[in-house]
Amino acid sequence: MGVKSLPLITPEVARGILKGERRVSLDLGITHALVEDHGDGVLLPDGSLIGFDELERVAEREEAVYFPREGRLYMAAISDDHFYKLVPTRGAPTLEIDGIRMHRTKGTTPEADAEGKVESLRLNGGNVLDTCTGLGYTAIASAERGASLVISIELRCQVLMMAEINPWSRRLFEDPGIHLLLGDSYTLIKTLPPEFFHYIIHDPPRISHAGQLYSLDFYMSLYRVLKPGGRLFHYTGEPGKRFRRLDIRKGVMRRLRSSGFKNGVYLEDIMGIICEKG
Ligand SMILES: C[S@@+](CC[C@H](N)C(=O)[O-])C[C@H]1O[C@@H](n2cnc3c(N)ncnc32)[C@H](O)[C@@H]1O
Repeated sequence: MGVKSLPLITPEVARGILKGERRVSLDLGITHALVEDHGDGVLLPDGSLIGFDELERVAEREEAVYFPREGRLYMAAISDDHFYKLVPTRGAPTLEIDGIRMHRTKGTTPEADAEGKVESLRLNGGNVLDTCTGLGYTAIASAERGASLVISIELRCQVLMMAEINPWSRRLFEDPGIHLLLGDSYTLIKTLPPEFFHYIIHDPPRISHAGQLYSLDFYMSLYRVLKPGGRLFHYTGEPGKRFRRLDIRKGVMRRLRSSGFKNGVYLEDIMGIICEKG
């Protein structure tokens, strides 16, 4: 069975089954399926048999996504120099890298937040550059809104492996209009043709983890690949409450202006700056 079709169990689903629910979601809330009682456990639609003791173990465990293998449930996570894991939310899951969430989850869901980001661009056909793929929600939202072509760049193959397990990321791998590049946006952008993109979504990790993606040099590259009249959305995170964040936003705005971007406005609801190439 391919990794894409693995049934996925969260602690909440495990608790539901233990309470007697038999119609549950095995794809993180997208659809529902029936599990059947079978001896000391349940039989999943793919034929996996999971014992109640195993479900009890997961029901008590940390918020994460688990998949079955030979009667046991394993966490969908990768541990190497960093620790990557999928974490369920009210909507699409988020990805944690070393405990840091890659999506906003307070007061929104990762997919709603991605839609908001794309909406801010007033996307209407055209080519989109998505500088940081993550789980692909901004790339998928761009395709859903009618982008003719999306080029999405991700630095880490471990992130794409997490996306492969995630049913909410499926379109990232199936939509012929979405093209994935594995590598560093800072370097790869230099290989992209000038004035090719109508829109850019720049959704980087926080500045302390990806300083180059906030540099004047990189903003000049973004400017170069954008068509005249094209728009850029740059996620900056929550400013204001902490002075440091405010300084970061001011610095971003200043460097965007120095690169040539105009009409920069900070949008509170999606916590980022929208600006355009004059
Ligand atoms: C905030 S997440 C992006 C979320 C994404 N837009 C989505 O909708 O799921 C940031 C992502 O950027 C990736 N990243 C970090 N540095 C990068 C770089 N230099 N080039 C490309 N991707 C990078 C991280 O691995 C992470 O997956």
